[in-house]
Amino acid sequence: MKRLCASDGLRGTLSARFELGLVQTRYGKVPLEGFAIRAPDGAVRGYHNVCPHRGQPLDLGDGKLFSSDGLLECQAHGAYFDPSSGLCVRGACPGRSLRGLPLVEQDGALWIDERELEPVDDPDER
Ligand code: FES
Repeated sequence: MKRLCASDGLRGTLSARFELGLVQTRYGKVPLEGFAIRAPDGAVRGYHNVCPHRGQPLDLGDGKLFSSDGLLECQAHGAYFDPSSGLCVRGACPGRSLRGLPLVEQDGALWIDERELEPVDDPDER
């Protein structure tokens, strides 16, 4: 497993962003990013930082992911996602979901199990 950050970096609405590697797209190889947040139930959740609406990152590079009502908000066109499930509950792509990541919180840190990562060929085509 690969260590991503300390657990206390995910207090409140703080998030952690990290690179997942390079993926081949129609435009060449591009970095694929993920993020982790602490959901309302206290558990850590991680998702690809790729909105299912049009494939853009949810944030504008500032790590701001939460809306004022506690949902994850895509800054591009205002899709809102349940932080616990990744399901779009309001806005641009209702019923579609963020793609989850195999994260583990252990020993005061957040880890990703890279063996459980599913291959992604082109995030724009999802
Ligand atoms: S790309 Fe996220 S709402 Fe459009």
